[in-house]
Formats: sequence, structure tokens, C-alpha cells
Amino acid sequence: MRFKKHAGTLELGDCTRNPGYQDTEGTTPAYDTTDPNPVGKQDSPAVRLDSDAADVYTQVKPYAGMPKEVLVLYSSRARYRVPRQILFWLTIACTLTLIALTATVIALSPRCLAWWQASPVYQIYPRSFKDSDGDGVGDLKGIQKQLHHFQYLNIKSVWISPFYRSPMKDFGYDVEDFRAIDPLFGTMQDFEALLAEMHNKGLKLIMDFIPNHTSDRHRWFNLSRARDPHYKDYYVWTDCNATAPRPNNWVSVFGNSSWTYDEVRGQCYLHQFLKEQPDLNFRNPHVRQEIIDLIRFWLGKGVDGFRMDAVKHILEAAHLRDEPQVDPKKQPESITSEWDLHHDYTTSQLGLHDLLRDWRAEMDIYSREPGKYRFMVTESYDYHEVDKTMMYYGSSLVKESDFPFNFYLLDLPQNTSGLWIQHLVHLWMANMPKGKWPNWVVGNHDKPRIGSSAGQTYIRVINMLLLTLPGTPTTYYGEEIGMENINVTDSQIQDPAGKYNASASRDPQRSPMQWSSDVNAGFNSITNITWLPVHPDYRSVNVEVQKKDKGSVLAQYRFLNTLRQSELSLHRGWFCYIHADAKVFSYLRELDGLDQAFLMVLNFGKESAVTDLSSVHELPDQLKVLMSTKPVNDGKVLQKSRILTEAGEGLVIQYSSYTRFNLNHPKQCYISEKACYLGVMGILYKC
Ligand code: GLC
Ligand code: MG
Repeated sequence: MRFKKHAGTLELGDCTRNPGYQDTEGTTPAYDTTDPNPVGKQDSPAVRLDSDAADVYTQVKPYAGMPKEVLVLYSSRARYRVPRQILFWLTIACTLTLIALTATVIALSPRCLAWWQASPVYQIYPRSFKDSDGDGVGDLKGIQKQLHHFQYLNIKSVWISPFYRSPMKDFGYDVEDFRAIDPLFGTMQDFEALLAEMHNKGLKLIMDFIPNHTSDRHRWFNLSRARDPHYKDYYVWTDCNATAPRPNNWVSVFGNSSWTYDEVRGQCYLHQFLKEQPDLNFRNPHVRQEIIDLIRFWLGKGVDGFRMDAVKHILEAAHLRDEPQVDPKKQPESITSEWDLHHDYTTSQLGLHDLLRDWRAEMDIYSREPGKYRFMVTESYDYHEVDKTMMYYGSSLVKESDFPFNFYLLDLPQNTSGLWIQHLVHLWMANMPKGKWPNWVVGNHDKPRIGSSAGQTYIRVINMLLLTLPGTPTTYYGEEIGMENINVTDSQIQDPAGKYNASASRDPQRSPMQWSSDVNAGFNSITNITWLPVHPDYRSVNVEVQKKDKGSVLAQYRFLNTLRQSELSLHRGWFCYIHADAKVFSYLRELDGLDQAFLMVLNFGKESAVTDLSSVHELPDQLKVLMSTKPVNDGKVLQKSRILTEAGEGLVIQYSSYTRFNLNHPKQCYISEKACYLGVMGILYKC
């Protein structure tokens, strides 16, 4: 129905007269009711209404042309009723089907990967990343300036080593105030600005958390040594003799006795690291509460996770008995190194895991909002006692860390061979509790850079291994460009551990990040000071130069990381061992339901190798190299019976096959959480 509006009046234009219309309100009919043939009359004379009446007409009765009775009369006829009912039941059926479908999809969908699984964890040593104020030491503002680097690399998780207020005896691992930022690194405002900016850019910030000890300048320690009633048992004190302060044979990780006599209190205190790092007494409930409060403080500020430092040292046996000597014949006076003792009473003590569970539970409270999961990783070097490390995953009922750092690949340089690498990888895969998520570390601020200890030849293939294994890779700053250790002369030593024993110095792996060929490698562009020397190779090994080179270590890192995150089989598919010998380690990644899969052939040997994989029937005969660490070999087509690799060369081969390897060789394969791909719908489902 269409109204033509004239000044002050409304004209009912071409319209259909409602058959059987009755003016129930008794008003004047708008047309001639005596018309002998009203039904079907098409061109009724136009009706004129004055404007007030028109308003009422349109507002109150938008369908006033058809009164209720007429509607009812017509709508109950079969030709209207039946389609209406069909439509009604169809709508109900469709809604129910949709609900059922949604519920099924939800029930069958595997969990999405969490942020700490999807991206590598990148470690920043803040002293060495970027100096914004020219004092020669990196700082928080410097980090904020360089956030674009993570976007470029497609990295989402950034762990920053400590920046709490500290006398810097152990460069921040000796904390004077857990609630303050050290002025060397900036202010609390700088921290908040950095965190906000990281969150804006979709990055997560993982803080270092140091529960085992504080600085000897911490307020708690000062009150404790003064025997303040509340604080006197905050640390581990025992009687000892000022002239021979050694209540037992325990030794510090940094060497010598782990006891120091304190003149103020007239007793000895325990320190498993430097004497300026007294161990907290976790048998004291007040200490436990202080730590919980600190966790809450930083979670409340919005940090996304913690790297829990030195966790195995948190508790010590209360009886303080001597630890057994590794060599019982050694003179007790000559026991000075951590390697001289079995640490039965100073590490991994009963009750440790209860503490970690409590902390995890605290973090869970802050993890409830969507997208706010708080991540925990623990640091514990357990060496051959891998089962001790695995305990930090918690049990299937009670969670602890999301993963404990996997340091086993740090042993890679000991023997660069395919079999050795397979052994190191398998150490983790074979011992990890079912359904848990692996991770891989090839460097950090405590260990020599792997590029230096394994040799330059292996820098690229190590990155390839890291980024194609299942689980979360960890990248220590500079590994993405292949940075190496610097040489530090005795007079240049900064690390306290190095002052005790020059060969234990950790300075070589802490040199300034190499950003460009500019002065100080772009680390400090204001003055000519850097707290440690810049590596002399910085003119060729730096971010700026490598960004321009398609075949650089950086370009390969970026390509592999992006591939890892975009390919389902690489980030959540099966991992299967294919081959290992004195030179080559080969494995594949595949996902049920996807015909695209990846084969990695990595040569860790000292010479070139020809690998014959013709017995692997699931592989096609011809294999095309998607990426080689030697860019000239990109795109090459190889016969599976003759896969040629140079020493230190790694190949990522993408292939298509409808037969899945894991189905025929379940014992050679591993997956954290099984998922299958349904090609027709483009979805993953639990299978
Ligand atoms: C951890 C840190 C190390 C530090 C020690 C004491 O092992 O990684 O750098 O010296 O704990 O806090
Ligand atoms: Mg600075």
C-alpha cells in the first residue's frame, strides 16, 4: 500500500480493497459498502484522509486495511495454514539441528593451542638488548623501542631476565626489592608503559621470578640479621664459628662453602649461590605468604607469566647433615665445587612441589578471563636425573609448571652426530608425561652460545631443529642472527661467577645485541660505552644487514617460525623418528586427515651424507626441498633413496601423501594431544 502525500492530506493510492471489510468501530466506511462486487475489486477510488487521521492510521494500525477477523478468516485456510506450519516446524528443526551441530563440534574440537605453545619464547637479557639512555647498559625503554623485532619475527612470547631493584652482584638475580624496578633499567612507569605497549602489539611478557633467595641488602635480610621477631627466621640461620664458618660440607653453585658468618647476628646463613644471595627459609609460613603476595602483585599488574628461577634449591633438609661426597676419598677440606657432592639435602627436597602447586593455583585464579592465561616455566638443571625435571609438569590431577625448561639440547655440542641429537631429543620425548607439551632450549644467559660451542657450521641447522621439533622453542636473544660468544679478558670479567673461576664466566654469552653495523652495533647509539664488548663480527652479523639478505640466518629463522605457526602438522601434528646415523637425524611431522606433511633431514655430522629413505614407504619417491639451510638447494628435487646433505645442512621437505606414517609405526611417533583434520569442513576434531 502506498500513500501519496499532498499538503495537509493523505491520498490512498493504488491499492487492493480488503474483501469482507467490516467497520467494527462504526466509523464511516472509507469506500462504498454497497458495491455489489467488492471482492477482487482492484482499482478502488482513492481515499482522502486528513493528516491527523493519517497519523493515527499509520501509527496505530499499520495494517488497518485488514481487520483481525479478516486476517483470522484467511489465515486459517489450508493454503496459508499448511505452509505456515511447515515453516514453523522447519524453523524449529533447523534451530535444533544447529544447536546439536554446534554442541557436537564443540565436543569434538581439540583445545586450541595456548599462546605459550603457539609462539617461541624469546629471552631478553635486559642489560644487553638495547640501551636507550647511553649508560652502556640496556633498559626497559630500549626493549620497548625494539618491539617491532618480535612482530617481524612473528614471536609473541617474551621472557625478560630480572629488572627488579638490585645491587647487581648477580646482575639482577640478587633482588633488593621485588616490588621496584632498578633505576638502571628504568622506572615502574617505564615497566607499565612497556607492558601496555606489548599487550597492544599482541605480545606476552614473562617475568623472571626469584623465589630461592634475595639480596643481602633486602629489607627482610637486614631485619633478620638484627633478629627482628617477625623476620628472624626468614632465612636459614645456624650456629657456627666465626673463624671456621662451615656448619656442614654444603657448597654453593658458584663454588666454596654455602655458609657465611654474619657478624651482626653472630650466626651463619645459607646461600646456595653468592654470599650476597641469602636463601629464604621456606619452612617459615610468613615467607611462603610473602612469595604469594609478590606473585599476586605482578599478576595484578598484568604480567603474563613467570620463569621460576632455580627452583630445585628452594628447600633444604632441616637436619643440615653433610651431603655425600662424589669421591669419598677426597679430603673434606677440598670439597669446594658443586660437582664434589651428591645434593641429597640441598636440592629437590620433599615439599618443593607443594609450593609450586600453590603458586600455580594462585596463577590459575588470574587465568580465568579469556585470553589471560598466566604461564609458568621452571628452571632446574637436573642433568642425568631427567625424572626429577619431569616432576615440574605436575600430575594429571594437579598442575605445576606448563613446562620445565628442557636443557638437554644444550649438550648438543658434545658430539655433533645424528644419533646423539636423536638421543637428546628422545631423552625428553620418552620421559615426558603423556599429553604434556615439550620445549627446547639451545641457549640462555648461563650457558655458552651454542653457535660457538658447536661451531658456526651448525648455527642454521640448530635453529631448524628448534623450530621443527614438536613443542615450544626458546630463543636466547641473538640466536636468530647467529650471534656468537665474545672473548672476555680476565680484566674485563663482570660476572661474579667468572671472578671466582674465569672459565665459569657467563660474560661471553651476554654481549650486546647486534642490531646494525653502526657504532656499538646499534645497541647504544648515544655514547661509546657498552657494559661488555660488542662481538667483532657485528658488521656482518646484525639484524639490519640480515634483513636485506634473503638467505641470512635471520631470514631462515623467520621463514621457519612462520611456517611452524601456519602449518597444522608442524605445530600440533605427530612427530615421528625416521632415521639417525653418525651424521644425519631425520624425522617427520604429519597430521591425520592432512595429505601435506613435512620431512626434516638434518646433517649434524662433519661431512656430507647421502641418506637412503627408500624403505620408508609412506614417503613419495621424489622429494622437493622446501627450504635448505644452504639456500642454493631450495626447491631441489631429490630421490628418496639419495638425499644429499652437506655437513651442517638441514632440509625441510614438504610432501604430499595419503598414507600416514604414524599409523604403521606408532612406536616411533609421538603427539601431545591427538587431533585430525576434516578436509571437507576445514576443521580439526578429536580423534
Ligand atoms: C639461575 C639464573 C642464574 C643465576 C642463578 C641464581 O640459575 O639463571 O643466572 O645466577 O639462578 O639466581
Ligand atoms: Mg641504559
